[in-house]
Amino acid sequence: MSANIAEMERRRAAAALGGGQKRIDAQHAKGKLTARERLDVLLDEGSFEELDTYVEHNCTDFGMENQKVPGDGVVTGSGTINGRLVYVFSQDFTVFGGSLSERHAEKIMKVMDNAMKVGAPVIGLNDSGGARIQEGVASLGGYAEVFQRNVLASGVVPQISLIMGPCAGGAVYSPAMTDFIFMVKDSSYMFVTGPDVVKTVTNEVVTQEELGGAITHTTKSSVADNAFENDIEALLAARDFFDYLPENNRSGVPVRPTSDPYDRAEPSLDTLIPPNANQPYDMHELIRKTVDEGDFFEVQPAHAANIICGFGRIEGRTIGIVANQPLVLAGVLDINSSKKAARFVRFCDAFVNSDRHLRRRPGFLPGSGARNIMASSSMARSCSSLMPRQRCPRSR
Ligand code: HXC
Repeated sequence: MSANIAEMERRRAAAALGGGQKRIDAQHAKGKLTARERLDVLLDEGSFEELDTYVEHNCTDFGMENQKVPGDGVVTGSGTINGRLVYVFSQDFTVFGGSLSERHAEKIMKVMDNAMKVGAPVIGLNDSGGARIQEGVASLGGYAEVFQRNVLASGVVPQISLIMGPCAGGAVYSPAMTDFIFMVKDSSYMFVTGPDVVKTVTNEVVTQEELGGAITHTTKSSVADNAFENDIEALLAARDFFDYLPENNRSGVPVRPTSDPYDRAEPSLDTLIPPNANQPYDMHELIRKTVDEGDFFEVQPAHAANIICGFGRIEGRTIGIVANQPLVLAGVLDINSSKKAARFVRFCDAFVNSDRHLRRRPGFLPGSGARNIMASSSMARSCSSLMPRQRCPRSR
């Protein structure tokens, strides 16, 4: 019996150490946290319940049978964020570059299955070179199973991805199917394939940053929603963001007690919109003065800034906000802004009880003349969906 316990302790210590102290030091030297350190920041203290700590890969090719690390490069389980349940996986770059083996995939699949069973969001912390090369097609099959669950969970439970290292192949395709993607500047990348392969195949010379860095994906491609300075900032933002989201598509939006009265007068709004339609104003100001306590979480702020999308609260309840921004391109709608808004509205449609919330729009009108209509209608719509019209004085 004591031998068994000693063996378990040995494996537990090995799981905690991942790919070893040298690789942990290398991770820290790049300004990155380890998989477990990230979960410590993301989740409420002491709330993490780990699953499958001792799972190892089953590959016997290329000498892999002699290279096993308990946990196999991903830490999985559940925990809470400000008391609300969430399922998580956190890939460990120190173990085979966080690459996905068949067993690694099974651990992620279990977390996603459990999340869908109980109706809780999934947050993935991605730091992975993609399919584990040594396993070949078994690893690709693992990705197929993960992708299938991304599809099944879509519109059922919120899925959030944090890209926290150089992610390639499947480690990018799966997050791309999730609802929101956060990246870390200068240490996270999303590639279909890296610069070396691009050079070989097309002769194009491109840097990692240009090909798939946080700035590229949050400004040009719009694959990612928000970019943060470092791991901690990204994880803390994910905690804040999580507070706005419902647990699933049947739970309704979360309600947070607020000391900001619904009938708070905001006299500055009377003069915010200039009488001259050619004169711009900052829609952010209108939003912040309208929502509870000025709290607004904007998504994709650096892409198609002529439209603003994000979450706030009115009377403690989450609302999705879509608003033209007269300060950028006079607030006109173009393809990028339309796609940005459509994607956001689609999420709200599924999760934020949007039948009355987001569909009662007057229509997108191209051109600067539409901005005031859009601005006021989207704010009024947000309020009117959740409370009787006369109880929304802030957005009059
Ligand atoms: C096995 C991998 C790995 C992988 C990285 N490693 N990716 N091992 N399978 N996919 C290992 C490296 O060999 C190395 O081990 C360690 O992780 C750290 O990697 P480095 O290359 O030293 O790190 P870095 O310079 O930061 O570069 C990270 C990287 C690069 C950009 C991710 O490693 C890379 O290009 N990896 C391969 C990416 C790739 O082609 N993935 C397959 C995608 S195909 P040692 O022991 O040397 O420290 C795919 C298909 C999905 O995913 C389709 C589904 C249907």
